Amino acid sequence: MRNINPYIPQTGSIPPYFSGRNNELKLFETRIQTAKEGGNIGHLAIIGGWGIGKTSLLKELKTIAAENKCESKLVVCPEIKDSNEFSEFIIGKVISPTERIKIKSVNIMGSGGEIDREVPHKHPQVRLVDALSEKWNNIKEETKLYALMVDDIDKLLSAENALTTLRSTFIELSMEYECRYMLIVTGAEDLFDRFAEYGMTEPLTRFFEPIILRRLNKEETRAAILKPLEKTSIEFENEVVDKIVNISEGHPYYIQLLCHRIYERTVDKAIDKADMRVYEDSFEDAINDISVTRFNKIYPKSEIEKTILEILSVSDEPLSHAEIAVEGLKRNIKSSSIGKPLRRLLDKKLVKQMEIGDKKGKYKIFDNFFNEYVRLKDQLQTF
Ligand SMILES: Nc1ncnc2c1ncn2[C@@H]1O[C@H](COP(=O)(O)OP(=O)(O)OP(=O)(O)O)[C@@H](O)[C@H]1O
Ligand SMILES: [Mg+2]
Repeated sequence: MRNINPYIPQTGSIPPYFSGRNNELKLFETRIQTAKEGGNIGHLAIIGGWGIGKTSLLKELKTIAAENKCESKLVVCPEIKDSNEFSEFIIGKVISPTERIKIKSVNIMGSGGEIDREVPHKHPQVRLVDALSEKWNNIKEETKLYALMVDDIDKLLSAENALTTLRSTFIELSMEYECRYMLIVTGAEDLFDRFAEYGMTEPLTRFFEPIILRRLNKEETRAAILKPLEKTSIEFENEVVDKIVNISEGHPYYIQLLCHRIYERTVDKAIDKADMRVYEDSFEDAINDISVTRFNKIYPKSEIEKTILEILSVSDEPLSHAEIAVEGLKRNIKSSSIGKPLRRLLDKKLVKQMEIGDKKGKYKIFDNFFNEYVRLKDQLQTF
């Protein structure tokens, strides 16, 4: 067997084994079935934090759409300045160059073909509706649904009117032209809150059904670790697998990154089973990688905030405000100076409060991986 590293720690990559997400996949199947049978078309918004698996899920949904004989297109949203640019972008992506010859409305403003000077320039939204409705007319004999998938829709938030244009376009396409388009978008976990920030909360919130992506559970995490090894001659010791499960807390990116590094070191050492020594070294590699790409950027500049993080990182248990203050005093920080920086750390989501049980209300660093970064950062090569 060849030892090609099966793990891919890259955002947007197709994972070696797609683990979990059963409820999300099932929900999509149901929505597709309903739409195919002529029922209501529900538009979906997959939301979740960085690296949680939004793009990977979108790619899985594309496969399901194909299995259901539905046409689909996955586009990654670029930085866009307004709704005009957005309409151009969607038309450019959805309508292929050969279709452009057939679809008259695309040619009016020069997105393809010649400019017809007799026809007055149409509003971009009108052009988008025209182009997509003509497209639907061309394909409706062969398909019952067209799923348009837009990854990273957050980039549209600051683009003037782009999101509201998107919404009204799809409502018009369905109501006026009886087109069967389903829109599936992905966005950060605060997408719906940010709709409000841009003054477009109600209609957009109701337009999209949210699918919130969370971390994988323990069983799904184990599968994500172990399944890719089946095609290789490398094994991970049980203790190593347990460590990955605990430290990653089911975060898909951490799982891929850590497994990739462990696999790499195991092959380098010419052994066939990763043990805890390999794990320790690989863990440092992984923390180094993620420091450069993410953690160094989110690590606070304020000395008191740093000290609070350090206090929390070396504690085995979550700490109360008073307990942090006691530790702070040992480091020459007055008790009264703890409150504000602690609140800022909460706001930045670098620290969280326990929600249930006897530790309710106590503070903890937001995840184990970042906790280890704070604890080890002085030893790291890249810090
Ligand atoms: N269900 C899964 N099972 C196993 N690995 C996964 C799963 N989902 C995602 N991954 C892996 O996790 C990493 C991050 O996934 P992905 O890029 O899809 O996340 P994302 O939420 O789109 O990230 P970003 O916020 O950067 O856009 C990738 O390496 C991917 O292969
Ligand atoms: Mg992504």
